[in-house]
Amino acid sequence: MSGSPAIKPLLHVLAGTRCPVPPIWLMRQAGRYLPEYRAIREQAGSFLDLCFDAKRAAEVTLQPIRRFGFDAAILFSDILVVPHALGQRVSFVEGEGPRLDALKEPAALDKLRREIDHARLVAVYETIARVRSDLAPSVALLGFCGAPWTVATYMIAGCGTPNQLPARSFAYEHREAFSLLMDILVDASASYLIRQFGAGVDAVQIFDTWAGSLPADEFRRWCLVPTQRIVAAVHRQVPDARIIGFPRGAGTGLGRYIDAVAVDAVGLDWTVDLDFAREHIQARRPVQGNLDPLALRVGGGVLDRSVDEILAAFGQGPFIFNLGHGVLPDTPVAHVERLVARVRR
Ligand code: CP3
Repeated sequence: MSGSPAIKPLLHVLAGTRCPVPPIWLMRQAGRYLPEYRAIREQAGSFLDLCFDAKRAAEVTLQPIRRFGFDAAILFSDILVVPHALGQRVSFVEGEGPRLDALKEPAALDKLRREIDHARLVAVYETIARVRSDLAPSVALLGFCGAPWTVATYMIAGCGTPNQLPARSFAYEHREAFSLLMDILVDASASYLIRQFGAGVDAVQIFDTWAGSLPADEFRRWCLVPTQRIVAAVHRQVPDARIIGFPRGAGTGLGRYIDAVAVDAVGLDWTVDLDFAREHIQARRPVQGNLDPLALRVGGGVLDRSVDEILAAFGQGPFIFNLGHGVLPDTPVAHVERLVARVRR
């Protein structure tokens, strides 16, 4: 790994130390709300073409750092490159989102590779190396993957779904096959993250966007256990790997998440109560979050008040400022400038 925590505020916090001015980065900080992103996106072809074009992906990763001076850059890619590297067909339809060949029944798993094909991901590792060499020493570089449950929701449904019913049904009806899919995704994700560390990331985030859709026992079986297995496997190969977990929608399950999963920090979505999180989560683990992306889009007094409340709640402990989910595509750039200035004033 590159860079000492001494000069990267984000790594300070991941080591459990409070920074007087909290480091800030935003989920989906590279994206359609930036005119310079839209310009490159137009030249690149499809969204996946952009993810696999190391030069352009590196440029897009760096755009929000140049514009806003964030404390971390996050690799420009997508969680669905993992199914792609397992042999599933993945594409993105303009304005609609991802499309995959849905895994409709257990037999469909026979078509998946059992091991991730890193040859299909070389461009990702090259993107990391390129960004690394262009990044100021104080800025951390983050890699990421999707958590197995969240990735499986797309692999099974073949697209985004409002309440993950196809994957939830599959897990109930074909428990053994679903368990095999989780095993494949645990190994693939761990191997993918280990390569990302080898290529130069300082830390990684595991996105479990749909953690909130499972009943408690299923949450343990399909979110907590697989995520902990990934974290343990990464730590076996990269003992000092720093890992952020983001179990969106976990609610009161957040306590069980930090009990079970050895992450260095936990990302809070925007619905998490600030007093609850300070007392029960931040007292035990550094936290990241959790501005409502809509407050950022609305801007003005709504934005200022929301930022101040979050700083008041978490500012006395180890804390990374972020959104509670990704930047919305129609967010004005000026609102992001205002946010950064307010956090750093
Ligand atoms: O945060 C960043 O700036 C890094 C890049 C990043 C993207 N996707 C780029 C992207 C990251 C970390 C992701 C993670 C991701 N991808 C998640 C987990 C986090 C979350 O947002 O919940 C999920 C569920 C996906 C799957 C995915 N990718 C969906 C459902 C969609 C379509 C919806 C949408 O917002 O367009 C994508 C496309 C996508 N991924 C875009 C970007 C910038 C937009 C594509 C475009 O530019 O046309």
